[in-house]
Amino acid sequence: MADAKPFHWEFTPEAVTREVFRIEGGVPLRGEVPISGSKNAALKMFAAATLTGERCRFSNVPEIEDVRVMAETLRDLGVVVDHPEPNVYEIASGDVEWLFVPLEAAAKMRASFILLGPLLTRFGRVIISNPGGDRIGRRPVDLHVEAMRTLGATIEYRNGYYFATAPGRLRGTEVRFPFVSVMGTENAMLAATLADGHTVIRPAAQEPEVDDLIAFLQKMGADVARTFPDTIEVRGKRRLRGADHDVLPDRIEAGTFAIAGAVTGGQVTLTGAPCDHMTALLEVFARAGIEAECEADRIMIDGRHVADGGFRAVDIQTSPYPGLATDLQPPTCVLLTQAKGVSTVNEAIFEDRLEWLTELNRMGARVDINDNHHATIHGRTPLHGADAEIGDLRAGASLILAALAADGESTIHGAHHVQRGYENIERKFADLGARIARLEEGTDSTSS
Ligand code: UD1
Repeated sequence: MADAKPFHWEFTPEAVTREVFRIEGGVPLRGEVPISGSKNAALKMFAAATLTGERCRFSNVPEIEDVRVMAETLRDLGVVVDHPEPNVYEIASGDVEWLFVPLEAAAKMRASFILLGPLLTRFGRVIISNPGGDRIGRRPVDLHVEAMRTLGATIEYRNGYYFATAPGRLRGTEVRFPFVSVMGTENAMLAATLADGHTVIRPAAQEPEVDDLIAFLQKMGADVARTFPDTIEVRGKRRLRGADHDVLPDRIEAGTFAIAGAVTGGQVTLTGAPCDHMTALLEVFARAGIEAECEADRIMIDGRHVADGGFRAVDIQTSPYPGLATDLQPPTCVLLTQAKGVSTVNEAIFEDRLEWLTELNRMGARVDINDNHHATIHGRTPLHGADAEIGDLRAGASLILAALAADGESTIHGAHHVQRGYENIERKFADLGARIARLEEGTDSTSS
């Protein structure tokens, strides 16, 4: 019952268990690592499942904190979320009794805002909290809100919440974005699937996760297609059906492990890796002189010549797909500390995504942060073990990479940030020969 739930504007965040990664670096990683399903695809598919009352089944879902938070958020709405076996989730949204996405969910995970489009278009109303998420810049949601208004919704903002209503159905129309937004594109597309009429979204994000979401929506019976590289068209349907989908592999996790192999001077094979989706990173490898061999779903990385100072400096710039992913900028910076010469970094997507480089400097790197979007990396600098603090998910994974490449022991604080997006990262690294443990802060006992 709706009135059984507390309706609160504020909340006190639960205390997270403080854990650290303890890493003894300097071991070249060797072996095979399986790549998990994509976080950024799985989260959107869970939201898409609320477009129908029928059951949806997802396999290859990564076992990560963000997925757990999304599952909990859906359960709080009255959605049935089953987890019959590892990496498999089933979602049935027949009875959604509570059209309210609270601050608890939003503060933990920005991607909770992806529920705006599907809940609004199916139920005609939703109250949703302004999201928090990673501490990497302002991360506004104005494009999402404007897209819903263009589709005919009325949205008011009060006390940190968006009150969205759409009496009757949303109306298909042209949704024009001033620049590319991944979740903005996805929210508009999800809303349009049940709208009345034809929607054209432009410029639409071209990330592979968006296309995987399109593939799932098509299985649900949605009339949606990418008609030009930067255009998605949707013809709204009255109802959608349940469907099964195998989530595509995570190109960001794959990139993280590829860089780990290279920067430790090891030899790593990624299995189940999305070679086709990693062209921009593999180009950086080619320019740096790192050997990478791609087969259909395997990538072999050979970084053994790092020890001879064999990597070349490379200038990098992040951009929307098919450009270099902003999520791979932090690990790529670690790699460039081991390249000979001066590399420049242009982080074009987010402001404040370079701040973590001060932590990298504590481990011996020589990086100048020139402004919010530009940094200069002076290589090659040997890295040494240190204490460092994780501020967000991707910076966290990157500090692990730096510690793996460093001589001596590192303690990386704030492990929970990494659990948000990487399935069992310490086990995967340990299987490649890394000396890594996740410990409770201030103890020496390994956590499970
Ligand atoms: C998604 C990914 C994230 C990745 C990012 C860019 C998920 C859950 N997250 O985030 O991992 O780093 O794409 O590839 O899929 N912006 C606005 N107003 C908005 C929305 C975005 O100004 O309403 C700005 C952002 O601040 C940023 C830029 O647009 O500068 C691009 O962000 P966007 O593509 O929307 O990122 P997300 O979809 O949030």
